[in-house]
Amino acid sequence: TMTWVDAAAVDDVPADDVVGIEVQGRDIALYGTDDGIHATDNICTHGHARLCDGFLEGHEIECPLHQGRFDVRSGKAMCAPLTEDLRTYPVKIEGGRVFLAFE
Ligand code: FES
Repeated sequence: TMTWVDAAAVDDVPADDVVGIEVQGRDIALYGTDDGIHATDNICTHGHARLCDGFLEGHEIECPLHQGRFDVRSGKAMCAPLTEDLRTYPVKIEGGRVFLAFE
């Protein structure tokens, strides 16, 4: 079953940028994009780098360590050296808050 968890204020998510937050012991990245807020795991699937230290361009986050890129909407790994997709979380906005669906 899915549980909606209050993760952050909408105002805490920067436009065209990424922020790292901890939610229920998980390291999560929130992205402010032109079609809304997206959420993924914050740790790269290739190595121990935090994506919130990377660079968001449009819907792609570039890992700071080896410049792998993920689509933040689907978690899809877009280029080498990435071989594994990133976990994403459903997002809903309510009352100025960002909720994430956890299993
Ligand atoms: Fe992210 Fe290598 S750790 S691309």
